[in-house]
Amino acid sequence: MLASIKTNSLTNEGQKLGMMYFRVAVILFGAQLVMGLIAAIQFLMPGFLFEIFDFSVARMVHINALVVWMLYAMIGSTYLMLTDETEHEGVGIALGKLGFWILTAAVTVVVLVYIFIQVGAGTEATIWFINEGREYIEAPRWADIGIVVVVLIFYWNVFATYLAGKQTGIMTVMVANLLALAGLYIAGMFFTDNISMDQFWWWWVIHLWVEATWEVFVGTLAAYALIKLIGAKREIVEMWLWIEVLMLFGSGILGLGHHYFWIGTPEYWWEIGALFSALEPVPLIAMFVHVLYDWGKEQGIANGKGEEGNVIKNGPAMAWIVTNAFGNFLGAGIWGFFHTLPQVNIYTHGTQFTAAHGHLSFFGAYATILIGMIYYGIQRAYGVERMKSTFKSKMGIFMITFGVMGMTIALTIAGYEQVLVERADLGATWNAFFTAQDLAWYTQAQLWRAIMGVVTFVGFIYLVWDLLTIGKAAKETQEA
Ligand code: HEM
Ligand code: HEM
Ligand SMILES: [Fe+2]
Repeated sequence: MLASIKTNSLTNEGQKLGMMYFRVAVILFGAQLVMGLIAAIQFLMPGFLFEIFDFSVARMVHINALVVWMLYAMIGSTYLMLTDETEHEGVGIALGKLGFWILTAAVTVVVLVYIFIQVGAGTEATIWFINEGREYIEAPRWADIGIVVVVLIFYWNVFATYLAGKQTGIMTVMVANLLALAGLYIAGMFFTDNISMDQFWWWWVIHLWVEATWEVFVGTLAAYALIKLIGAKREIVEMWLWIEVLMLFGSGILGLGHHYFWIGTPEYWWEIGALFSALEPVPLIAMFVHVLYDWGKEQGIANGKGEEGNVIKNGPAMAWIVTNAFGNFLGAGIWGFFHTLPQVNIYTHGTQFTAAHGHLSFFGAYATILIGMIYYGIQRAYGVERMKSTFKSKMGIFMITFGVMGMTIALTIAGYEQVLVERADLGATWNAFFTAQDLAWYTQAQLWRAIMGVVTFVGFIYLVWDLLTIGKAAKETQEA
């Protein structure tokens, strides 16, 4: 079905490959949401699909699909912009395509195993063939190795093209950052049976991804997209990109400490984690201010001259990228800062508050801009000059954003109740854990999360419908 997103107008092989990655990303995004809905229903009706498709399995597939679809969309975006930035044909794209098929076949097998086999005994065989039991990146070891091979091919495509072509600031940051991003995956691959040690290394992947390398990655996407969509000046976006690299790598790496508070690591992590993670929102705020400031300034200058200014060349892509600026700031910056000091985290750790932050940050910082890039890919695939938002684009972005915001608020309320009742009042005992979950503040919040999840899902249907039709419609308008 998604094949109806035509790539005929593309002459560039790298961009065609990018579109292939995008299609799979959208399918996995859909799978993620279905799994989230199942898990949300299980919060309300614990017997739902009990021993057929347990909460633990639905939750695992939900968050692994999330990580994988985002990686697909990131790889897709990189292939999409490669030739534009380097002004050089992608090197070795045929091998890249082979890599795509290997990766997609592996992901399919892994997902089928997750759904049909689900769990295994606590043995080496399970680690090799079923799952590794590491939250967010649970691929079994055979798939881990496959992923590393495919990522090496991808990295070679990018690096060789970069060396052969023009070396813009955006591409330099991207090449260096991708190396770190891919390298960190290795930290999550080995196994130790000491749970503290295991968690210590596991956070290297998940925290250093989302709070350092992924943030810088979407910085490069935003820089590229702003140039393409509204004609932003390269010097300005690149300057901010470098500042972001400097600040995020600084605060993000030591900010890792905010995950070391309660896992048995030495206490000096309290101070390190508190100070540096609290600094993390600074670059996010800077980026946010910068996007709005630049845009306002440029429009003001143009309007002063009585001109239209830089018309937006892709309405839905721009809308999603602006949502990214707000979403990143709110989800990572505000919701992250809320619980990052150890004095606060001792109460909020592992409550629904964490889930609220997880939803808004992953959505705001990553889902948004990646969806924007998919829209931009479609514009390129159909070779249209301008792509305006349709009714479906607007319904898609509105319902998805409203739904995720709604879920976040519901979970924040549930988390607040857990902090007050379970942690502060009843002293975090086993009984307190269950007592807190029976109170109305909690159960009603879970109901609202499920309702808002359905809103999100309906928005997703609009989104897919739009992705399938917008390019063709824009092309017809242009030809008329
Ligand atoms: C886009 C960037 C970010 C994403 C995608 C993200 C995502 C997440 C997720 C999914 C978790 C839950 C992990 C688990 O399952 O245990 C988490 C935990 C946490 N995040 Fe973030 N985060 C981001 C940025 C930040 C920032 C900037 C801060 C601080 C200012 C922060 C503070 C925290 C803290 C303190 C926890 C631990 C919560 C607990 O103890 O239960 N995050 N984050
Ligand atoms: C149909 C909409 C969705 C529903 C109903 C849903 C539901 C859920 C449920 C029930 C969990 C398990 C929470 C727990 O263990 O307490 C969960 C976890 C999670 N979901 Fe969703 N979700 C949805 C959409 C999304 C989206 C759009 C994103 C991000 C782009 C996302 C990211 C996450 C993350 C990061 C976690 C792990 C959070 C943590 O443990 O801290 N979900 N979701
Ligand atoms: Fe973190």
